[in-house]
Amino acid sequence: MSRILVIDDEQVIRRLMCEILERAGHETVAAETSDEALAELEDDRIVLVVSDIVMPGLTGLELLEEVRARRPSLPVILVTGAGTYENLSQAVTRGADGLVIKPFSHADLQNAVAAALERARRTEHDVRERLLAPTLAAALANAIEARDGELQGHCERLAVLAVRIARELGLPHVAVERIRLGALLHDVGKIGVPDHVLRKNGTFTDEERALMQIHPLIGDRLLEPLDFLPDVRAIVRHHHERWDGAGYPDRLAGEAIPRAARIVSVADAVEAMSAPRRYRAPLGRSMIVSELRAGRGTQWDAAVVDVALGLIERGELRFAGDGVRLSTGDAPTPTDEREQSVLLVDNDDDAAEKAAASIERAVEHVRVVHAKDIRSATELCRSSRWALALVDDTLPDGDGLEFLRAVKERTPSLPVLMLTSEGAEATAIEAFRRGAADYVVKSNGYGAEVGERVRAVLEAVT
Ligand SMILES: [Fe+2]
Repeated sequence: MSRILVIDDEQVIRRLMCEILERAGHETVAAETSDEALAELEDDRIVLVVSDIVMPGLTGLELLEEVRARRPSLPVILVTGAGTYENLSQAVTRGADGLVIKPFSHADLQNAVAAALERARRTEHDVRERLLAPTLAAALANAIEARDGELQGHCERLAVLAVRIARELGLPHVAVERIRLGALLHDVGKIGVPDHVLRKNGTFTDEERALMQIHPLIGDRLLEPLDFLPDVRAIVRHHHERWDGAGYPDRLAGEAIPRAARIVSVADAVEAMSAPRRYRAPLGRSMIVSELRAGRGTQWDAAVVDVALGLIERGELRFAGDGVRLSTGDAPTPTDEREQSVLLVDNDDDAAEKAAASIERAVEHVRVVHAKDIRSATELCRSSRWALALVDDTLPDGDGLEFLRAVKERTPSLPVLMLTSEGAEATAIEAFRRGAADYVVKSNGYGAEVGERVRAVLEAVT
């Protein structure tokens, strides 16, 4: 049950809001003044705040800042009278997580609360997946490599290759990122294999081979407590399965093997062949190509092998005697690390040009990419990582609000700035409801203003 703090100086409204929220299954705590509210905030069971904007003492906007200072990730929904357009903009700029316009229906309030709670949950999940998981994966990969000196850099290099193959196959960004983690962690179970087996130079006895072959199972079990790594666990468990069903540990065959594991399996083999081992020199290009061709459709998925062969053929995947090299690698240059990419979706070329110039003037190290319709913007959202998106409300192939909803569902943490026509207050309000970070009225100083708004939003999220 979620405990929600409801703040309104009018008793009737306060009671009404509490009743609506309790009917939706939440527990409520009511506060009449901002002082009372701040005292209640000491209770860390409170997961969301619903506050009136206009109150004696601190206004809702000031209270929002106090809440942000005390509990930065606590979602706040502000309630305001209709027509207070300036309030709306300020509320969102200062980081409100939702707005409810008076008079409101039960559904308005319940939906705003449900959406804010869901966004908070997804943001937390996102943070864990995007920040914690890569850090953990890199640390564990280092631990595996530290036990076996000749694997130095192997996991990192094969992760770069696996990511490249996944992108060539057109996999979505989320799947590619999981493949990166799975590739880094694929051999984590070797932590549980005894040294005398792991470091052995000669041929394995049957018993030693059996010990070695349980490493995917150990890895899978090791990662079990990490609930944010389910797809990654499948890669760890199945990276030694074979397309013909003769692999281990589950003897899966063909498409029953998760595609991510099939990709990591090929990348692992190519990277291992291209690096020296205690018992053999690195294999050269022609040997690797013939090994790949020999195992195509028996050991490995033919479609994945074909991508690897294509990269070798085009000279993009090379072998330097100590592991694979990709010519257009993943490692960002220092400039890339600072650079933020902004997606601008607007079919009006003139307006887009002015907006891009304004953003480039206001924000350092920014790259503005222009899409003219929802179709191409959706494609760009799939294939790249964005710091912010600006979306016109009317686009040739659909409604900007619909696109906004789809974007927020897919990437809840991506700030979206809505571009609206003059007088389209309803659109701006709806945009806020669907999670927009701010709006800019196009016909009113659109070019000059938009850069500043983008800068403010980017500063607020970083
Ligand atoms: Fe392995």
